[in-house]
Amino acid sequence: MCGILGYIGKEAKLSLFLDGLSRLEYRGYDSCGVVGIKDRKLFIQKRPGKIHELRRELRDFINEKFPVGIFHTRWATHGKPNEVNAHPHTDCKQQIAIVHNGIVENYLKLKQELIKEGHKFVSETDTEVIAHLIEKFYKKSLEDAVSKAIKKLKGSFALGVISKNEPEKLIAVRKGSPLIIGLGKNGNFIASDIPAILPFAKEVVYLKDEEMAVIKKESIEIFHFKGSPVKLEIEKVKIKPEDAEKNNFAHFMLKEIHEQPEVLRKILSLYDNKNAIHFPQINLSEDFFKHLKNVFIAACGTAYHAGYVAKYFLEAYCGLDVELDASSEFRYRRLNITKNDLLITISQSGETADTLAAIRDIKERGIKVLSICNVIGSTLAKESDGIIFTHAGPEIGVASTKAYTAQIMTLILLCLYIARMRSSISAQEMRNALKELSLIPGYQKEILAKESEIKKIAKEFSKFGCFLFLGRGINYPSALEGALKLKEISYIPAEGYPAGEMKHGPIALIDEYRGVVCIAPKDFLYEKMISNMQEIKARKGKILAIVNYGDNEAERLSDAVIRMPKLKNQNFSPLLVAVGLQLFAYYVAKNLGHDIDQPRNLAKSVTVE
Ligand code: F6R
Repeated sequence: MCGILGYIGKEAKLSLFLDGLSRLEYRGYDSCGVVGIKDRKLFIQKRPGKIHELRRELRDFINEKFPVGIFHTRWATHGKPNEVNAHPHTDCKQQIAIVHNGIVENYLKLKQELIKEGHKFVSETDTEVIAHLIEKFYKKSLEDAVSKAIKKLKGSFALGVISKNEPEKLIAVRKGSPLIIGLGKNGNFIASDIPAILPFAKEVVYLKDEEMAVIKKESIEIFHFKGSPVKLEIEKVKIKPEDAEKNNFAHFMLKEIHEQPEVLRKILSLYDNKNAIHFPQINLSEDFFKHLKNVFIAACGTAYHAGYVAKYFLEAYCGLDVELDASSEFRYRRLNITKNDLLITISQSGETADTLAAIRDIKERGIKVLSICNVIGSTLAKESDGIIFTHAGPEIGVASTKAYTAQIMTLILLCLYIARMRSSISAQEMRNALKELSLIPGYQKEILAKESEIKKIAKEFSKFGCFLFLGRGINYPSALEGALKLKEISYIPAEGYPAGEMKHGPIALIDEYRGVVCIAPKDFLYEKMISNMQEIKARKGKILAIVNYGDNEAERLSDAVIRMPKLKNQNFSPLLVAVGLQLFAYYVAKNLGHDIDQPRNLAKSVTVE
């Protein structure tokens, strides 16, 4: 939520940084702004709306060069997304400018105190108090003032700070919200995420929580909030610039849907070591897994749905009882977790505030946390006892697609790994499972090849004002995820339900104006799903069914079908169902003319509670 980019070095054109900022737009896109220093003056431009609108406004300055600048794209928390509330924010004397990602929880109290002291506020934001606090403490050194100001703040904040009085410095601060420092040939950078600096820097330093950096053209110094210096840990950037581009696809979402077969192949090649699963950073012993009692899973949104699939797996394959919670609920539950239990968290970004809060409390109690995460260097990856990366590459479309199937594939491998340690499956069963998993990328490609068919179906179904997604067993989470994908990018109300629950309420919704998506693979619950479809048909509901090839019975009951290969182990079918439902949601939204990569009100990486 909110993207920060900052630069100090050899003078560089504004347009370059607007490009960089655009690669952070997935984090929030309701308003944006820039500030640069030139001739000891602040040059500030802000506006509501997206970065292309700011670029238009700045057309006369686009080749302007600044030796230092900070840039921001906002997802509003405090105050409407208008020009005044957009970042950067400044102090009364317009000598200090800051950009912020996070929330200052005690801003009202601080604001009242600062107003009493004579400070003049112009915006409704929590961020502006930081600029005035820095002003209050500012004598000669910007870093001293920042370090005093942040001690007064409660909440989460990643900050970029500059002052026209010290144009040779860029200050970066991190508490709770992510921030990296990029090391480039012509200067140094700060950013909320790596894609912003890909063309400029090949090396990065991940600022840790409660660290502050004083960045100059040719030097970087990091200090802990308590004042002690911190050694620079420089890491190579592993992502290629083209990984963060749309290439020839109309949207990032569509590109990412198409990347899934390759992502799953990569996961298998990294973790399946000749029929023995190997996780280099799992950091939990065989003995721990043998004596494991209960598993708790906490995650949000799409990652929660991947966790739901894992729950079915862990119960069926490992003989473990699993409790699953949205992280925002988990963090406030009073659970009797013991040291023989394990908390698994799942997160694409590794920065989701609720998921981080969930692990912090548990870790304090000495309980092990294993995380499934996509972003190397993220807070979740650093704070967990064990980590398994999903290696899906940057996911820029706000609606999660490839990260979801990457999470499921990784979690299936984890379940097989645990099951072997607990001897709840045989070596042969494991080999069979891995063999079938290796076929999944090819099967996904078969579904992707039906894109134009799915596009036609989506056109037909985009007229419905409401949708039910029904699934059973391991495809109940697929129904939840299908409904989430549809509602977040098409804004059509959609509910995911276990099909068996239909008669307990949702059936009242069904008539000829509602679309019902029935996930009906030929597994042991198939007959029951067919009965549900009969009930929907009898009430004139319009059915789109996800079926296996050659399933005439389900096809006869449906108005449209998406066909998929039948697996020997239908427990893996969520990996196929997801692809069909993602394409369906994509084309419904496209047909309705929505902004698919940046749906309204949403932002990727929810770094506030
Ligand atoms: C939906 C979506 C969100 C995220 C959720 C968790 O398409 O993207 O529901 O899944 O915000 O984010 P991460 O996985 O980064 O913790």
